[in-house]
Amino acid sequence: MKDRKIYFETYGCQMNVADSEMVAAIMKVCGYTTTDDIQSADVVVINTCSVRDNAERKIWNRLEFMKGLKHRNKGLKVGVIGCMAQRVGDKLFDSGAVDFVAGPDAYRHIPELVEETDIKPVADTEFDISETYAGIEPVRLDRESISGFVSITRGCNNFCSYCIVPYTRGRERSRSADDIIRESENLLANGYKELTLLGQNVNSYKCDEYDFPKLIEAVARRVPEMRIRFTTSHPKDISDELLETIARNDNICNHIHLPVQSGSNTVLERMNRKYTREWYLDRIAAIRRIIPDCGLSTDIFCGFCGETNADYMQTVDLMETVGFDSAFLFKYSNRPGTFASKNLVDDVPEEEKVARLARLIEIQNRISLQRNHSDVGKVFEVLIEGESKRSSDMLFGRTQQNKVVVFDRMSFEKGDYVNVKIIEASSATLKGIVVQ
Ligand code: SAH
Ligand code: SF4
Ligand code: F3S
Repeated sequence: MKDRKIYFETYGCQMNVADSEMVAAIMKVCGYTTTDDIQSADVVVINTCSVRDNAERKIWNRLEFMKGLKHRNKGLKVGVIGCMAQRVGDKLFDSGAVDFVAGPDAYRHIPELVEETDIKPVADTEFDISETYAGIEPVRLDRESISGFVSITRGCNNFCSYCIVPYTRGRERSRSADDIIRESENLLANGYKELTLLGQNVNSYKCDEYDFPKLIEAVARRVPEMRIRFTTSHPKDISDELLETIARNDNICNHIHLPVQSGSNTVLERMNRKYTREWYLDRIAAIRRIIPDCGLSTDIFCGFCGETNADYMQTVDLMETVGFDSAFLFKYSNRPGTFASKNLVDDVPEEEKVARLARLIEIQNRISLQRNHSDVGKVFEVLIEGESKRSSDMLFGRTQQNKVVVFDRMSFEKGDYVNVKIIEASSATLKGIVVQ
């Protein structure tokens, strides 16, 4: 079989990063090797996101570039996969740049789809509730990284009213613990130092006798040399049992990403998040009690349907009360097909959304700076990830709490653990000195 080259371009969340690696593995069996050079590729795969409108707009623009590329390279096949492939389907052919479209449950069919494009463009967006990509050993695409992703669930059953994910990824299903543990061991064998267990709501993992606390502890014990992270936890499902599991396993990182979305109970209800502000604050109190030095991050978006200024101020107040170390902040984007799109009115004017978001960013920057300042003088174990972007004399790594620390290189290398005393802080980074 002729050696063919495949190039991946991945947008969206970590789930897509993990999926691209799965697709690379499926293609490898059919004679495709991955390339970092788009010009030399026989097949280009764009793995896409639909979570907000601007994520999709970016892809339409990118497809214009692909059209030019196909013009210069006549044999080139371009495929769109991922959430936008599922949502937009064969309308992607209107771009004039796309040969095949494959939704998140159709990845095993991509080799045949590529063959079929010799005749005409093809789309496969069938859901397959039994598809967990069992038995596939991912081909790692970022060979520089010391950190790898392991998906543990696919899909989502929560149907938050604003969210497209349940429609693009289908129903939730869990991969077998054996598969997850084997993949974790392979990461270790290949020199990885850290792994992140992935799911839209990891707390609802369930397979045979394993729930999420049992699974993460089993992984942590099987690869004790590795740091274990996980994302995302849904606040309605995060249990004390999980917090205790994190606290008792040194290699499970003391960091929790717990998206709150809003601080207002009426907005949370309209979002169908199934918890209240009080419930969320109780979970934060439990985290602080059980894992006192836990790093905390969140997702928040403003300007949801019916969000009044008073609702918005409740969000600001919650941010101040919790004091997140960091936050991903967005403004509401109406997604066709969701409950909110069909039943609620997107009534916060765009300029008001923009203004509310700008203030959230300002507020979080100040809080992050305060939180980082409070780390000055403390010593953290840092796992080194590579060279600092600012200077080749500096390295950077992360604390368990997921904070980025830069420090002098000396004779250390990527993958080493060092103890670093923090001497300076900005809202985004810590600076320290090694205190072995
Ligand atoms: N499963 C994860 C998040 C998936 S999407 C969870 O439940 O937390 C990542 C983030 O995008 C969400 O947490 C939310 O803050 C944001 N988001 C999702 N849909 C959105 C929309 N329609 N408009 C704006 N932000 C959105
Ligand atoms: Fe979307 Fe909610 Fe599922 Fe997260 S839990 S993916 S926000 S529906
Ligand atoms: Fe985007 Fe799909 Fe992830 S919509 S955020 S790529 S699950």
